Amino acid sequence: MTDQKQDQVLIFDTTLRDGEQSPGASMTHEEKVEIATLLDEMGVDIIEAGFPIASPGDFAAVSEIAKIAKSAQICGLSRAATGDIDRAWEAIKHAARPRIHTFIGTSPSHRGITGMSMDEMAEHIHNMVTHARNLTDNVQWSSMDATRTEHDFLKRTVEIAIKAGATTINVPDTVGYTAPRESAELIRMLIAEVPGADEVIFATHCHNDLGMATANSLAAVEAGARQIECTINGLGERAGNTALEEVVMALKVRNDIMPYQTQIDTSRIMHASRMVASVSGFAVQYNKAIVGKNAFAHESGIHQDGMLKDSTSFEIMRPEDVGLSETSLVMGKHSGRAALRSKLENLGYELGDNQLKDVFVRFKDLADRKKEVYDEDLVALMSDQTTSA
Ligand code: KIV
Ligand code: ZN
Repeated sequence: MTDQKQDQVLIFDTTLRDGEQSPGASMTHEEKVEIATLLDEMGVDIIEAGFPIASPGDFAAVSEIAKIAKSAQICGLSRAATGDIDRAWEAIKHAARPRIHTFIGTSPSHRGITGMSMDEMAEHIHNMVTHARNLTDNVQWSSMDATRTEHDFLKRTVEIAIKAGATTINVPDTVGYTAPRESAELIRMLIAEVPGADEVIFATHCHNDLGMATANSLAAVEAGARQIECTINGLGERAGNTALEEVVMALKVRNDIMPYQTQIDTSRIMHASRMVASVSGFAVQYNKAIVGKNAFAHESGIHQDGMLKDSTSFEIMRPEDVGLSETSLVMGKHSGRAALRSKLENLGYELGDNQLKDVFVRFKDLADRKKEVYDEDLVALMSDQTTSA
């Protein structure tokens, strides 16, 4: 048995490894160290800092992160090959809590790529996990493309990895193919049917090709997985990985129906999102859940009026919970009188009802011509008002 509490879900962040694998998202050494420092501070349990054999630069970044991390475990990825595993170990060995993560593709198409038969692959997994386990007692095994692997063979690979000493078993949905019910059933089946499953932690690692990565990760947790692999802003190959901010906030906001805890300081989420967006050059879409520019913004009159009266009317989270100072009431053609009055009051203008009526007509006229009416526009509107009065 692991000493992890039953309701605790570990957050394994792979922004610096799977995230960086997005075409065009590569990061410099300094940028990686800056991101890792923030992830460590915000309570990420395991940081996958890179793929040390991939390049000397990756090796150097993983080594430095391993040396500076204060509380997170530092993980290095390696294919199931002794050279890769040794290189990963060299890079992470100075960490207070190093982890080797090794993998091979187990589905029919991935077996085809390796040219190994099932029996050859089974023996290879035994040898590679044993090799890693001789270096550290913190070994993570991934049967890559698990969700498209035959169940009997998947169970066999997982059992071999556990017997050889793996302490975390990752079940990757490498191509974002699974769906929530299937994701849950797979984890439930592995936990129920693989000997030794109760001795290890099961992890879920989802890609977002069908837009289901968050739902699939949460379904896996409900079925018994206790580690979610994810990235900031969902950065990752193709359509990306499970977004850290989504799973963490879903578990916080809907703790009533998903009673699991993470140790993430959610007030650092927005900062992390902006840092990763700026470093990777991948802008966050405006309507992205949790961290998008519009996630806490309201333009329609009904919503703005509601928000001014009761902040829970159209928001299920407080902006401060993710590190934003306030909800933003965006002034545009859908905005109503209540929002205009409140905006103008914040800008220092006290208006009587008749004055407001007048300004409101001119505001609507302007809003029809502009997508968004900024504070400066309102100030200009008010000074025209004073001049023409
Ligand atoms: O998606 C995947 O299968 C991976 C593995 C290396 C775990 O990223
Ligand atoms: Zn992946």
